[in-house]
Amino acid sequence: MKAWRIPAFGIDKLSFDEIPAPQPGPGQVVLDVHAVSLNYRDLMTVKGFYNPKLQPHRIPCSDGAGIISAIGEGVTQVAVGDRVAGTFFQHWIDGDPAVEKFKGALGGDIDGTLTQQVLLREEGVAQIPEHLSFEEAASLPCAGVTAWNAVVTAGRVKSGDAVLIQGTGGVSCFALQFARGLGARVIGTSSSADKLRRAAELGLDAGVNYRENPEWARWAVSQTGGQGVDLTVEVGGAGTFQQSMAATRTGGVVAQIGVLAGREQTLMITPILHKMLQIRGIYVGSRQHFVEMNRAIAQTGLRPVIDRVFSFGEAREAFQTMEHASHFGKIVISVKTL
Ligand SMILES: NC(=O)c1ccc[n+]([C@@H]2O[C@H](COP(=O)([O-])OP(=O)(O)OC[C@H]3O[C@@H](n4cnc5c(N)ncnc54)[C@H](OP(=O)(O)O)[C@@H]3O)[C@@H](O)[C@H]2O)c1
Repeated sequence: MKAWRIPAFGIDKLSFDEIPAPQPGPGQVVLDVHAVSLNYRDLMTVKGFYNPKLQPHRIPCSDGAGIISAIGEGVTQVAVGDRVAGTFFQHWIDGDPAVEKFKGALGGDIDGTLTQQVLLREEGVAQIPEHLSFEEAASLPCAGVTAWNAVVTAGRVKSGDAVLIQGTGGVSCFALQFARGLGARVIGTSSSADKLRRAAELGLDAGVNYRENPEWARWAVSQTGGQGVDLTVEVGGAGTFQQSMAATRTGGVVAQIGVLAGREQTLMITPILHKMLQIRGIYVGSRQHFVEMNRAIAQTGLRPVIDRVFSFGEAREAFQTMEHASHFGKIVISVKTL
């Protein structure tokens, strides 16, 4: 079978290899991958910034959806023919986060999904909503579950709340859709007027250009009657964190997810205590979170936002597109299209 692998760091170094097809052992299943979506983490992994000690020849990507083609001894929870997606953490089934549950991250410490077939744990898959195509379902495991945890688990968003999203990438588009679905007013930032227009079509109530207005927190506060938002979905990291704290109301939540604008910077931390902010780190989520999110998606008929679908042979072009940040929503690779 064919798989993309990382023999050395760099998008141009990605190799399209012929490797043996996996055989399921006890408690394992083989997923015949139909579609894969890219996350910013996959780009950092391929470029060597995520884990400089990554095992050579690792298959990248955490997110893949398809059909179970084989099951190992003792597997009872899924059957051949089931439409599923792999879970980001193969060992975080439910309950509180714990170090041992973070082991077995697809496309990280174990091989990922950018392959025709991937070996997964029986508990490491979740059924995908019936109304979604494989391309749409492939966008759920990382970006979808992360946004769900920011909006629902950490933010406890309810009708009438104000939520701020940053940029228009995969996580932020899902956060916009989930928060709107719960009846929140959603405001957001982007580097592009055109993307803000597209976000408005998706339900964004008001937007601001963060390049033209680097101090956008004042704008966010003015958008919420001088109070600040109830939840900030923080994907910028060090470069946006100060603005995120300033944009959030007293007692509000900052869901810290990403590092798009850097990992390290001097910060004034006093807003955390003076405003009694709740800073919640998010690391994707468990299989249980995935299942709960899928139930909501099935109920509401939500459709993930896909920017573009590349063929399997165009994986390098897909990563380059993510690197240029020209996308809106998710970048997907159709593994069935060579
Ligand atoms: N902790 C976790 O579990 C977890 C899970 C998923 C993702 N993440 C992290 O979350 C971040 C987003 O991931 P993603 O996969 O959604 O990325 P993505 O799809 O590549 O999103 C990129 C978009 O973010 C926006 N952006 C870039 N710099 C920005 C800045 N300084 N301020 C505001 N927006 C900015 C841009 O939107 P515009 O073009 O509209 O400006 C850009 O197009 C990444 O850092 C990723 O590593 C973390």
